[in-house]
Amino acid sequence: MQMSHIDDIPSTPGKFKMEKSPYFHRLRWHTSLAKLTFWPIVFLGVLFIVFFRSPSSSPLHSDPSRRSLRTYNWGGSAWEKRVRSSARVRSRNGISVLVTGAAGFVGTHVSAALKRRGDGVIGLDNFNDYYDPSLKRSRQALLERTGVFIVEGDINDSALLRKLFEVVPFTHVMHLAAQAGVRYAMENPSSYVHSNIAGLVNLLEVCKSANPQPAIVWASSSSVYGLNTKVPFSEKDRTDQPASLYAATKKAGEEIAHTYNHIYGLSLTGLRFFTVYGPWGRPDMAYFFFTKDILNGKSIPIFEAANHGTVARDFTYIDDIVKGCLAALDTAEKSTGSGGKKKRPAQLRVFNLGNTSPMPVSDLVSILERLLKVKANRNIMRLPRNGDVQFTHANISYAQRELGYKPTTDLQTGLKKFVRWYLSYYSNGKKAAE
Ligand SMILES: *[C@@H]1O[C@H](CO)[C@@H](O)[C@H](O)[C@H]1NC(C)=O
Ligand SMILES: *[C@@H]1O[C@H](CO)[C@@H](O)[C@H](O)[C@H]1NC(C)=O
Repeated sequence: MQMSHIDDIPSTPGKFKMEKSPYFHRLRWHTSLAKLTFWPIVFLGVLFIVFFRSPSSSPLHSDPSRRSLRTYNWGGSAWEKRVRSSARVRSRNGISVLVTGAAGFVGTHVSAALKRRGDGVIGLDNFNDYYDPSLKRSRQALLERTGVFIVEGDINDSALLRKLFEVVPFTHVMHLAAQAGVRYAMENPSSYVHSNIAGLVNLLEVCKSANPQPAIVWASSSSVYGLNTKVPFSEKDRTDQPASLYAATKKAGEEIAHTYNHIYGLSLTGLRFFTVYGPWGRPDMAYFFFTKDILNGKSIPIFEAANHGTVARDFTYIDDIVKGCLAALDTAEKSTGSGGKKKRPAQLRVFNLGNTSPMPVSDLVSILERLLKVKANRNIMRLPRNGDVQFTHANISYAQRELGYKPTTDLQTGLKKFVRWYLSYYSNGKKAAE
């Protein structure tokens, strides 16, 4: 059954192609003594390699909260070379950024935009199967063509994160990896704890120990406003009534961010995304599976609140979100700590990134009908009380003032771009995932 969790951020991706090991070279042996010592040396060498690489293949890396257990391979000189080359800054005053969740929807677009303007970028993604991993693979291929390498691994893997910081002294971290989805939290609650809490803490632990400490921009969510009814949603409104475990873990993230800022001087900026949509989007989002179901002649569930109340979302086009993310990185001040202590107070910010014009979900469907030239089979249903809220509406004046954030794409224009992408992507022999 498909569900309409219409409001979140991208999930994380990841699979891995093994690099050919650079450890063994052809050797020439001229003396019989050398021949005699060859095999013992090879044996010791193999032992050595197994010992030092074991953190990347130990059971620590298999995570029971994922639907597919998986270990990741990383390390080695060829791997480090790829990491360095991808992270190389090519423009003057460029930054070097670790982007987590880089094979996700927002992660892919942000990584590509950073790379385009000459920043150094390394992606990190676990390529989990929360939604069709082949879409994440396609995004990865797209990024590879622009010169962005995505490391396959989990944000909860501290050995991997430390290794990345050892290889590249990142100036910034763009943390977009997360378990997304509002309803899925009832099916798999531990994956939210794993990614959005344990993973975040692990990442911040590594960042606070890094020298120099990076500045961190990360994805919170408009869902933190929960049952708040005051509109438009402003950053200062109460966010202590989450309506889903997803929202609760994002709210927890904001508090965890406060702690790491307060104790360790990490510069932290949280971005509350409002229903991001566009090309290469997430198949679990309503606009995406509505498109698929309309084309397949399947009925689509359209929720309404009590007394036929309209369910509306502040749909925000991906290009506008990307501009907001880059502006957040560019205005982030340096972290102020080192050696586990802060030297002076560091920057701590939270911004709404929305579009300021909520649209009824039924209007979204009408636009899709026109673009697809197919009539939708609408199934009006009562909004269940298990995660989704009735409406979202962002007050973006703070982001406007501090980031120069100004969304310019309306829903009609954005959906047209999405539909064009969708039709071309899925007509190339690729099947939309169930
Ligand atoms: C995260 O990783 C640590 C080891 O780095 C492990 O002990 C812990 O169980 C992991 N947490 C989750 C929720 O998977
Ligand atoms: C929007 O937020 C700003 C603070 O950033 C506040 O001053 C303003 O009153 C809010 N506007 C509305 C309409 O709530």
